[in-house]
Formats: sequence, structure tokens, C-alpha cells
Amino acid sequence: MITGTRTGIGRALAEHFLDRGHQVVGCSRRPSAIEHPGYRHHEVDLTDGKGIKAMCRAVRAEHGYLDAVVNNAGVANMNHFMMTPEEVARKIFDVNFFAVLNCCRESAKLLQKSSGSPAILNVSSVAVPWALAGQLVYSASKSAVEQLTRVMSKEVADLGIRVNGIGLPPVHTVLTRTVPREKIDDLIGRQTLKRMCTMSDITGPVEFLISPESSFVTGETLFLGGVH
Ligand SMILES: NC(=O)c1ccc[n+]([C@@H]2O[C@H](COP(=O)([O-])OP(=O)(O)OC[C@H]3O[C@@H](n4cnc5c(N)ncnc54)[C@H](OP(=O)(O)O)[C@@H]3O)[C@@H](O)[C@H]2O)c1
Repeated sequence: MITGTRTGIGRALAEHFLDRGHQVVGCSRRPSAIEHPGYRHHEVDLTDGKGIKAMCRAVRAEHGYLDAVVNNAGVANMNHFMMTPEEVARKIFDVNFFAVLNCCRESAKLLQKSSGSPAILNVSSVAVPWALAGQLVYSASKSAVEQLTRVMSKEVADLGIRVNGIGLPPVHTVLTRTVPREKIDDLIGRQTLKRMCTMSDITGPVEFLISPESSFVTGETLFLGGVH
């Protein structure tokens, strides 16, 4: 199950795993253009806890279990905190943090039924380690997700579930469309590997972290591009 599959990284991940022969459950508020016999799309607003429960009930009825959950859906608001109204800040936390928490809770029982090495993978950002100005609320929400990853990994270890994160540098998507080119270049200049991260840079590490190949890895957030 991958959240936020209508566009960007979520869509690229869904298409990658479909190409590999997996069954993929995706979701977003709006319909998806992915047409594949192995793909099922749920139109759900992840800020609605009941919608998440209904999606997981439908997954249980159709598949009975999940091997992996990728909490990818996210929103950003690049603005000075003094220009960020409370309702905007709360909305960002609703999608980036509370929806992740709810998806983990509702999908854990389905993950327990996997016969592989079930895993949760949460998407974070360089905005956390680099504490980027203009991204206070966004980076705080992703920081909360990284802490969720560490603590939850301990709470579900006995259930056989692993919880990891992947920390991304800038990638060309709708999310970064409005970020000025100079800002993106500045961030790339801070990476050890000085080029823009592409979808194919992401799929390999994601596949590793949700596959049995990483069955002894949990509670970690792996940053791409060399972020130190
Ligand atoms: N792009 C980057 O440079 C970058 C860097 C670091 C981390 N990230 C992280 O990577 C993840 C994916 O970002 P992206 O760049 O691929 O963004 P994107 O292209 O804007 O995609 C976000 C996806 O999430 C869905 N979504 C948003 N709010 C939702 C909600 N309330 N309920 C259900 N679905 C919702 C959107 O579909 P609908 O609009 O149809 O709901 C869309 O499919 C995010 O967590 C982001 O923070 C991105």
C-alpha cells in the first residue's frame, strides 16, 4: 500500500512495484490515471481517520494482508512561520503526521498477516537535518515522522513489523514546482552527490527497505544524496 499515488514520487513508486509484478493499493483525494490490473485506487482524504479505516477494511476484504505500507502522501508550505496561519500549520500536521500515524495503526493488523518481512516506510525530507528556514512547520511535521519511526519500530518489533524512513533531497514534482531554481541549486550544492535526485534514485532504496533483504533494519531513516 502506497499513499499519495496520484502524482510525483507516490505514482513513480506505484508504477515501479506494478512493473515488478506486485499488487499495489494506492490512494489520494482525486482519481488516479494508473491503469493496471494489479492496481487498486482508493479516493480518500487521509486527514479523515474514518476514510483510512474504510480503505484498510477494503484491503482486508480484497487481499487479506499487506506486505508493506509506504507513507508517502505529504504537503508542504514554504513560508516564514510568521506568515503561516494556525489553520495552515494544523493542516500540514494533519496530512504529514496524523495521517501517517493513523495509516500505521489501521494497517498494522494487515501487515502482521504477511508471510514475508512486513515493513512500514515513512517519507521524510532534508528539511529536517538541515533545519531549513522557511520550512518550519513542514520540517517539524517530518521531524515528528522521524521520531514516530524510531519509537514505533520498538512498539511493533514484537509483532514482526519493521518501521523505517527515507529522507529525500529535492526531486522534481508538483511539491517543488514553485521553489525557485536558485533555492533548489543551493540545496543540491549542499548534497555530497551534487545532482538532482530522480525517481530511479528513490525506487531502489525504497525496494530494499520494504523487502526481506532489509529484515534486520528497523527504526532508521536513510537519507539519499549524502546529507551531512
Ligand atoms: N518533491 C520533493 O522534492 C520532496 C523532497 C523531500 C520529501 N518529499 C516528500 O515526498 C512525498 C511525496 O511528495 P511529492 O513531491 O511526490 O508530492 P506531490 O507530487 O505533491 O504528491 C503528493 C501526493 O499526495 C496526495 N495527497 C496530498 N494530500 C492528501 C490527502 N489529504 N489525502 C490523500 N492524499 C493526499 C496527492 O494527491 P491528491 O492531490 O489527489 O490528494 C499526491 O498524489 C511527501 O511526503 C513529501 O513531503 C518530497
